Amino acid sequence: MYKSNMEQDILRVLYTQEEIQKRVEEMGEELYDKYHDRDPLFVGVLNGCFIFMADLVRAAQMKSQLEFIAVSSYKNGTVSSGAVQITRDLQCDITGRDLIVVEDILDSGNTLSYLKDYLMNRGASSVSIVTLLDKPSRRQKAIYADIVGFEVPDEFVVGYGLDYAQKYRNVPYIGVLKPEVYNT
Ligand code: IMP
Ligand code: MG
Repeated sequence: MYKSNMEQDILRVLYTQEEIQKRVEEMGEELYDKYHDRDPLFVGVLNGCFIFMADLVRAAQMKSQLEFIAVSSYKNGTVSSGAVQITRDLQCDITGRDLIVVEDILDSGNTLSYLKDYLMNRGASSVSIVTLLDKPSRRQKAIYADIVGFEVPDEFVVGYGLDYAQKYRNVPYIGVLKPEVYNT
C-alpha cells in the first residue's frame, strides 16, 4: 500500500483483498446457479453494502435488477440499539418478486429480521439473504443468511464497505478496528 492514514487504526487484517475477491466470485456463481432463470431483484442495504454489492452483482453475471434500501439502527456506536428505522425506502414495486437482500454484516440480526418481514409484507414472493460477514456469537433474533461470505469473531470490523461512525468504509480489506478508536 502506497499510503493510508487509516491503516494505523487497524489492529489486524481478517480477510485480504484477494481472499474477499475469491469468495465474492464463488458467491456470485452460487447466485447465478440459483437465480439466473428467475429475474431476481437485488436489494442492497445502504450504506454498508455498496462495495460488496458492486462486486457481487458483477460476479453473478445474470440479468437482474438492482434496488437500494437504507435503514438505521446504529447511533454511531458499536452496539445495536435494537430499533430499526427505514431511512430510504424502495423505489419500485416488489410484488411477486424474488429478492436477494445484500447486507454487509449480520450481527444481532435486528436489521435483517425486521427487513425480511417488511419485504414479505410488501408482497415479495421470496427473500434470500446474502451477507458478506456473519457474527453469529451476537445474534438476538432467529435469523439466518442463505449465503455467508465469512464468519467473523465478536470484534468490531471495518473495511470493504463496513464503517465505524461512517469512516473506514474505503479500507480495501476487512480488518479489526483497534478498540481505542471507539473507546475514547
Ligand atoms: P444487526 O442489526 O445488529 O444485525 O446489525 C446490522 C448492522 O450493524 C450492519 O448492517 C452494520 O452496519 C452494523 N454492524 C454490526 N457489526 C458491525 C461491525 O463489526 N462493524 C461495522 N458495522 C457493524
Ligand atoms: Mg453500518
